[in-house]
Amino acid sequence: MKILVACEYSGAVREAFRKLGHNAMSCDFLPADDESKHHYQGDMFDLFPNGENVNQFDMVIAFPPCTYLCSSGLHWNKRQPERAVKTEQALQFVEAIMNLPVERIAIENPVGCISTRIRKYDQMVQPYEYGDDASKRTCLWLKGLPKLQPNPSDYVSPRMVDGKPRWANQTDSGQNRLGPSDTRWKERSKTYPGIAKAMAEAWGKDSVDANAFLITK
Ligand SMILES: C[S@@+](CC[C@H](N)C(=O)[O-])C[C@H]1O[C@@H](n2cnc3c(N)ncnc32)[C@H](O)[C@@H]1O
Repeated sequence: MKILVACEYSGAVREAFRKLGHNAMSCDFLPADDESKHHYQGDMFDLFPNGENVNQFDMVIAFPPCTYLCSSGLHWNKRQPERAVKTEQALQFVEAIMNLPVERIAIENPVGCISTRIRKYDQMVQPYEYGDDASKRTCLWLKGLPKLQPNPSDYVSPRMVDGKPRWANQTDSGQNRLGPSDTRWKERSKTYPGIAKAMAEAWGKDSVDANAFLITK
């Protein structure tokens, strides 16, 4: 299948699909971390000129920025009212992805206002259900795609701290271990490899198509 992994610089999901023989490419304003030639650096909507699916993508999987959408970010909107405009723009961006003329669409984001303002997520997943020692509640909005199916043997057990479950990315009090830095957001937003693999396995079962992409600007 021809698959666009939008808002992805890490290549995690692109490569999980390519390993299964799919013609997957990623797209982000940032360059690809792995310098892959299967990456378009720019706006994902450049690949849909006049809103049309000229590249004939069979599937779009998108990881839109969550800064102004997720619950932890929305918390700041009360103190910084100017953020509200950015939340509205971020919601419009998500809706534009949902409305792309593509048969199969998946959108990933943390818990936040997409569910209350657009529609409720279809599935919530955790990296520890898919083989990674990490906790991060992740929501999926699906069109034409099945839910991910965790394999019980991939479950990563937590350590227990005062009766509370904690995974390797969490401190004993439950905070994320990554300290403040310029690259913190980037490290935190990378898709976990187990979830990337589960997406490819669940959604990449259909026909495999090795045709080259036509990227039209
Ligand atoms: C939360 S990060 C997702 C990272 C992803 N999970 C990964 O593993 O690479 C969101 C990304 O969306 C990108 N982005 C935002 N608007 C975009 C657009 N219109 N077209 C392409 N990428 C966009 C940002 O540059 C940012 O890297």
